[in-house]
Amino acid sequence: MIMGENGMKKTVAIDGPAGAGKSTIAKLAAEKLGYIYIDTGAMYRAVAWKVIDAGVEKTDGNIVETAQKLDVRLRSIGGAVRVFADDTDVTESIRTPEVTALVSKVAQLGPVREKMVELQRAMAKDGGVVMDGRDIASNVLPNADVKIFLTASIEERTRRRWKEMKAKGYDGTMEQLREEIIARDKADSERAISPLVRVPEAALLDTTGMTIEEVVQKVMELCGDGR
Ligand code: DC
Repeated sequence: MIMGENGMKKTVAIDGPAGAGKSTIAKLAAEKLGYIYIDTGAMYRAVAWKVIDAGVEKTDGNIVETAQKLDVRLRSIGGAVRVFADDTDVTESIRTPEVTALVSKVAQLGPVREKMVELQRAMAKDGGVVMDGRDIASNVLPNADVKIFLTASIEERTRRRWKEMKAKGYDGTMEQLREEIIARDKADSERAISPLVRVPEAALLDTTGMTIEEVVQKVMELCGDGR
């Protein structure tokens, strides 16, 4: 297991745009490091899922109220991380196009972010975590031991998402998916509170044309473990 200079397990922050492969890479790197993987996007998605499930009008007020009442939790079950909204396992249902279409709106709201960031910091307080999202290095864990900005060309990100969505029965076109990704990146980068940003000290990792194994290897090197 990799330790930081202070003898504690490290914190690893991975940020980047949609479809850059953050969750795939963060999960594999966490396994190799013996750390816990924290998918912060899944937490915002759980709030969006609950708003849709509750059938309430998607106003800012209703979204904030839903987030404040909701118990969002990441649980490790049989070695895999599962996402819970109250007592419902929403791991799969937070990946639908409906949830994806609403999540950027949810993630723009200050009170929603405050609650999620507090939970995220609590989960990382003892180190030993790989956390991915949009504002991890800039806001959630500004003192993270390792900061990585993971990206890839829009074409490659669209192709990756397309494969993933097709397997789940998505019936839109590749061009639609591309536009959705561009729109979400724009909303996430231009919002007022904690937008997606690459902090200057983050290592830039452009994964265009790289295999998953190559990217994980690079992340391990950046974590101080080149095995
Ligand atoms: O990584 P993802 O696609 O599952 O994230 C879903 C949305 O949540 C994304 O569009 C932006 C938002 N998000 C955020 O604002 N801050 C984070 N730390 C993680 C995700």
